[in-house]
Amino acid sequence: MLKKISIIGAGNVGSSLAQRLAEKSCDDVVLLDKIEGLPQGKALDILQSAPILGFSGCLTGTNNYRDTAGSDVVVITSGAGRKPGMSRDELLKMNMASVSEVTRNVVSHSPDSIVIVVTNPVDAMTYLALRESRLPRGRVLGLSSVLDSSRLSSFIAAELNVPASEVSALVLGEHGRNMVVIPRLATVKGRPLTEIIPQETIERLVERTINGGAEIVGLLKSGSAFYAPSAAAARMVEAIALDKQEIMPCAAYLEGEYGIKDTVISVPVKLGKSGIEQIIELELAGDEKKALTDSAEAVRKLIDTMKLG
Ligand code: 2OP
Repeated sequence: MLKKISIIGAGNVGSSLAQRLAEKSCDDVVLLDKIEGLPQGKALDILQSAPILGFSGCLTGTNNYRDTAGSDVVVITSGAGRKPGMSRDELLKMNMASVSEVTRNVVSHSPDSIVIVVTNPVDAMTYLALRESRLPRGRVLGLSSVLDSSRLSSFIAAELNVPASEVSALVLGEHGRNMVVIPRLATVKGRPLTEIIPQETIERLVERTINGGAEIVGLLKSGSAFYAPSAAAARMVEAIALDKQEIMPCAAYLEGEYGIKDTVISVPVKLGKSGIEQIIELELAGDEKKALTDSAEAVRKLIDTMKLG
C-alpha cells in the first residue's frame, strides 16, 4: 500500500491498528503518542514479528508530529476510554480538547490527508474534527457502524453456528445507545435474517449489539474493546488507501441526506481515495427513518453541549 498512514495514539486501538497495517505490508505507517517511548517500543515490537510473519511493512514510532508529515490517511485514536458503567457521551468533556489539538496538528502537518476519528464519543468527535480541520466533509469520517455491524454479524453467526463471513448485517445512526439496527437488511448466506430466526431472538441480538462495547468494558474492567475496533479501522484505511470504492457504514457529516442536516451519524458511504466519495441513501421504512432521525437528534444534542458556535 503505497500510502502514508499515521495513527495518533499508541494505546490498544492505535497500536493494534499499527500491527494490522504493518502485517498488511503497508509501506509507511507512523504511530505517534505523546508518551515518550510508548510508540517507539510498540513499533519495535511489531517489527520484530516481521521475520516470523513474513511481512515487509515500514512502521515508525514517534513523539513528534513532524514524522507524520505528508500522511495520506490519519487515524485519531487518542483520548480517554470508558470505565465500567460509563457511557461514551461521558467522555465528551475529557476528549474535546485533545481531539481539537490533535486535529490542528494533523492538518498542519498533513493538509491533504483524510482523517478517520475513533476517539469517543465518535460522532461528536468527528463533528469536532471536521469543524477544527476546516476540511471538506468527505475527508473527515468516524469509525462506528463498521464495528457495530460486525458485532451484530458475529452475534448472528454464533447464534446460528455459521461462519461470520456468511452473515451480513447493517447498523446505522449513533455509535451509542441510539444506534439503529436494521434486521430487515441482515442476511445469512443471502437469506433475510427475519426468515431464519424468531423476532424475540432478533431483539435479543439487537440489544446485545447496542451494548456491545459496554459488555467488553464490563468484562475487561480496565479498558475497552480494541481488536474489533482496530480491524474496523484497518478496513476503512484500506478502502481509502487502495481506492477500493467500498461501501460501508461510517460516521459522516450529513447535509440533508436522509432528511438530516448538520450532524454526524453513520450511514452507508462509498470509501475511496478521496475519502467519502458518495453517501448512499437507502430506502428506509417509516419506523427506520424515524429511528434514524431520533438517533441524529441525540447526536445533535451532544454536539450542542460542546458550544462550538
Ligand atoms: C466500542 O464500541 C470503543 O466505541 C468502541 O467498543
